[in-house]
Amino acid sequence: MADLEGMKGNEKKDYGIGIPVKKEAYFLKGLDHYDWGIKDRMSRIFNAETGRTVMLAFDHGYLMGPTSGLERLDLAIPPLIPYADSLMCTRGALRSTVPPTANKPVCLRYSSGTTVLTELNDECILDIEEAVRMNASAIAIMVSVGGTYEAKTVENLVRTADYGYKYSIPVLGVTAVGKEMVRDARYLSTASRVCAENGATFVKTYYCDDFVKVVNSCPVPIVIAGGKKLPEKEALELCYHAINDGAAGVDMGRNVFQSDCPVAMIQAVRGIVHQNLTVDRAYQMYKDLSVQAK
Ligand code: R5P
Repeated sequence: MADLEGMKGNEKKDYGIGIPVKKEAYFLKGLDHYDWGIKDRMSRIFNAETGRTVMLAFDHGYLMGPTSGLERLDLAIPPLIPYADSLMCTRGALRSTVPPTANKPVCLRYSSGTTVLTELNDECILDIEEAVRMNASAIAIMVSVGGTYEAKTVENLVRTADYGYKYSIPVLGVTAVGKEMVRDARYLSTASRVCAENGATFVKTYYCDDFVKVVNSCPVPIVIAGGKKLPEKEALELCYHAINDGAAGVDMGRNVFQSDCPVAMIQAVRGIVHQNLTVDRAYQMYKDLSVQAK
């Protein structure tokens, strides 16, 4: 007040009005112009320090039934929860197996349909109110580019993105790769890009040779699925190469819960994703923690 009183009629004082303030960019690729709710939820799934995430995928039962390693969800999953940045699962697994007190962001499996017993990917979507009830930090939708149900699954993504953005819930586009598809950079770039352009906030796909091309041609973050069970060191190599080629994290299932020591494996994966460990150091970590776990 004293300053104002002391000002003469035409004296100019700089209050900073009109001077552009440089805004700090959001830490995830392509999401700078998204709204607050989306950014808040993505910041729960991804670690803002590293810009990466370790998502634990255990949604396999919705199409595979009680697959190996997940026969007893109640025994397999709880020990892994502390080491995951986020949980990707169905509403059935969430309600039955994950204690709400775990306080982990959930990427809810939002599409479902045919199983391994028939032709995959003929899917419908859930109700967005269910995602709100489950406090989902993201919703995951299967998209089968080039497959029999391409149009239906792309439409599912479009509707999911419409509903997701209405409530600021990010959408994970999951590229379903049919047996007839070649998992190369050309196909996975197309599938990932189709997901992003149709509204996916982030994309899950598979690692491949020339993965940099897949990452560079996708305008939003990519996480990789682990795929079929590999020997532990090879699975860690897969993570290492994916992260070095620009993946923003992993959404890994079988290579964790089918491991000889799942608790050690998820920590070794974390070492690569968040601490930039080499494959040798991460594998040593896996072996050391496996011994301790016995
Ligand atoms: C696939 O449809 C599911 O969404 C899985 O969650 C996904 O494939 C990741 O699991 P995995 O690492 O076992 O491939």
